[in-house]
Amino acid sequence: MFPQRRLRRLRRTPALRRMVAETHLTPADLIAPLFVREGIDEPQPILSLPGVVQHTRASLAQEVKELVDLGIPAVLLFGVPEHKDAEGSGASDPDGIVQVALRDLRDTFGDDVVLIADLCLDEYTDHGHCGLLTPSGAVDNDATLDRYAEVAVAQAAAGVDIVAPSGMMDGQVAAIRDALDDDDFGEVSILAYAAKYASALYGPFRDAVDVEIADGGDRKAYQQDPGNAREALEEVRADVAEGADMIMVKPALAYLDVIARVRAEHDLPLAAYHVSGEYSMIKAAAANGWIDGHAVAMEHLTAIKRAGADLILTYLAREAAEVL
Ligand code: PBG
Repeated sequence: MFPQRRLRRLRRTPALRRMVAETHLTPADLIAPLFVREGIDEPQPILSLPGVVQHTRASLAQEVKELVDLGIPAVLLFGVPEHKDAEGSGASDPDGIVQVALRDLRDTFGDDVVLIADLCLDEYTDHGHCGLLTPSGAVDNDATLDRYAEVAVAQAAAGVDIVAPSGMMDGQVAAIRDALDDDDFGEVSILAYAAKYASALYGPFRDAVDVEIADGGDRKAYQQDPGNAREALEEVRADVAEGADMIMVKPALAYLDVIARVRAEHDLPLAAYHVSGEYSMIKAAAANGWIDGHAVAMEHLTAIKRAGADLILTYLAREAAEVL
């Protein structure tokens, strides 16, 4: 006869539960996304991302110090420039805000922290798209690749360890790899936003970087349709073939099936991005007293790791590391 109470026996005490736990979250699994804004003297709160700020250069360095002390290995930088234009020139300007911040952090921390830079144009373009536009307003894939190559080289020259292209142009990983290698930055790695969906969960992020897509537009002509999973596997295969060192699925929770399928097929380090809307939903419900925000946060992160992610990019990094 099937033994009664078998599955509950090992759940009886905290020590037993810890002994049989299948998933362990540690600070080393976490990457903190950080925003640095040009031309400000005080950190600026972001209304839709409670607890997250646009940093000054000085407050960014202080934040990175505290994160490193908590055991977080890496930060992902996003820049908020003072001026935007059609080409997103601030993204590749040697004196652009992310390049300046990378140099600051490298000078201060040496190799004690892994510096990752998001590689895209949308924070820097006045039209808010991730690439250059054709005269008719479409995003021009191949012209954009040339810009991504310039951004990659600028970030590499400023001391980045890993560039993270997030624009979902076809061929972006190969174009960036070639540009880095040609300029003698062969040691810089690529974390490919390989499967990135056209998600409504990026809303608060766009507040964080002051991005509004022109004419009420969206990114559906370059980011993926949320209903497609096999296509995500094709996206990841393409990026791996083009030379990605690490791969990412984004967002995380609504795409745990995609994380699991990518994990089953690939052995490169796999990251998942718990995005701004996922964070804000927790904070908003917690502020209303409707959920225990910290418990939900830890449950989310554990679930993402259980699905197969090695690394989680998350605005919860500090709060999670503080208890791990
Ligand atoms: C594009 C980029 C976005 C995010 C990361 N990189 C926004 C977008 O694709 O519209 C979203 C991150 C988040 O929501 O936390 N540079």
